[in-house]
Amino acid sequence: MSESSQNKVDFYGRDYLVSPDVLIPRPETEMMVDTVLNLVGKPFLPGIKPSKAELPENLTIVDVGTGSGCIAVTLKLLLPQAKVVATDISDKALGVAKKNASALGAEVEFLQSDLLDDVRIKPDLIVANLPYVDENWEWVDKEALSKEPALALYAKDGGLELIFKLIDQAVEQEVYHLVLEADPCQHERIVQYAKEKDLTLGETRGFSLYFSE
Ligand SMILES: C[S@@+](CC[C@H](N)C(=O)[O-])C[C@H]1O[C@@H](n2cnc3c(N)ncnc32)[C@H](O)[C@@H]1O
Repeated sequence: MSESSQNKVDFYGRDYLVSPDVLIPRPETEMMVDTVLNLVGKPFLPGIKPSKAELPENLTIVDVGTGSGCIAVTLKLLLPQAKVVATDISDKALGVAKKNASALGAEVEFLQSDLLDDVRIKPDLIVANLPYVDENWEWVDKEALSKEPALALYAKDGGLELIFKLIDQAVEQEVYHLVLEADPCQHERIVQYAKEKDLTLGETRGFSLYFSE
């Protein structure tokens, strides 16, 4: 695809290249970044009192389902001491994410993986905005979404199949800090599922949920 047929979209104050291979970054996803910054005691907005840091600034973060790379790149630029690994099952999405990291000067590592299957490091924190739209939701404008890859949007089991699988894998690998995005109508089920895995809800911020031990 030529550069002219690609677009740029703002995320957390920076322009990201997008193509038909990636989800267009959404404003609600910026709240996942806010949540991570608060976890390390570094709120982005002036005037917000830093919370007690639950995690160190030099933490290792894995962004699962990175798409355009918007979350991973933003976190690496705002937390330069952190190691940030961005994964996606889609090779084409990773291509776009790599371009964004390079254009914005973010040293992010990239890895193709189905969820955590090929992730060999143990992160301190997982962030994931995975597909969570259920194909049967009648209130979704499918026509509008048809310009984005189905792989980035849809999941089975009320949209929660991949989120639940990721929670299972994280707990198996003893990773107990997770920031996840889902539609608010799904939060109750996710909180219940995480509770069964001994994870506790730390905070809800818009679409994002933070779980810890
Ligand atoms: C909702 S998009 C989010 C993209 C980006 N993180 C954002 O917030 O804009 C979900 C991403 O997850 C990827 N994905 C889908 N299934 C996956 C899987 N099993 N393992 C890893 N990534 C997956 C898709 O290719 C897509 O890039």
